[in-house]
Amino acid sequence: MSNPSPIGVFDSGVGGLSILKEIRKLLPNEDLLYFADSAYCPYGGRPPQFIRERSLAIGRFLKARGAKALVVACNTASAAGLDSLRLELQLPVVGVEPAVKPAAALSKNGKVGVLATGVTLASERFNSLLDRFCDGVEVITQPCPGLVEVIEQGRFTDARPLLDRYLIPLLQQGSTSVVLGCTHYPFLRPLVEEMVGPGVSVIDSGEAVARQVARILALSSLDNLRIAAGKEVFYTSGDAAAVGKVIGLLWESPAAEVAGIDLPA
Ligand code: DGL
Repeated sequence: MSNPSPIGVFDSGVGGLSILKEIRKLLPNEDLLYFADSAYCPYGGRPPQFIRERSLAIGRFLKARGAKALVVACNTASAAGLDSLRLELQLPVVGVEPAVKPAAALSKNGKVGVLATGVTLASERFNSLLDRFCDGVEVITQPCPGLVEVIEQGRFTDARPLLDRYLIPLLQQGSTSVVLGCTHYPFLRPLVEEMVGPGVSVIDSGEAVARQVARILALSSLDNLRIAAGKEVFYTSGDAAAVGKVIGLLWESPAAEVAGIDLPA
């Protein structure tokens, strides 16, 4: 049985496009709805309750537009609101988490560096990951205030001084694998790889999340079995023209129009 309904995906802003790209690659025929909560980005410094409320408002919005499943393409929102979303929406909900498990396996010396937001790093979800997968591994964490904003505003050339401040100490402490623990950061991957050099692995969770989405859809018989290419619809709580410009930069195929949505906190 084929299900033509779209998959809903959201993030605090444009960062979740790094997950959307992997979903599009793996599931070219699925329709996708993407919501960038840019009016309230960054989430990283906000109270978890606020992030939970935003996540629920966006989840309800995407479900009302027919989403058959929801992807929380945001480590911070996954840490703060995944359980509430699953409880209220009664949809399959896939979250994102920093890829510490593969990073621990790839580290040559048992030292793993993690770049993420403060909310992600302080969350129970993250610390339970460490307990489960990082026994005997030294995990060096680094919150990265300001880095999301640089990507959100398309100011990529401003990233280097922030990466000097956040990434270099991880290398100086011996990390041989570095986790991009925020969905915005993969857009800086070429610069990060240049800075760390060939001896350090750089890992994000995009491909793993796309595989999980495919698995969940198949298990729930929700996959769209048609052959035709799927479409994307973009929404934002922010300035549609400004966000559309950055989406146009990050989304390889010409981005569809971005609809501005007033979704009050
Ligand atoms: N993309 C979000 C994440 O993966 C960034 C959260 C924020 O807006 O600070 O955590």
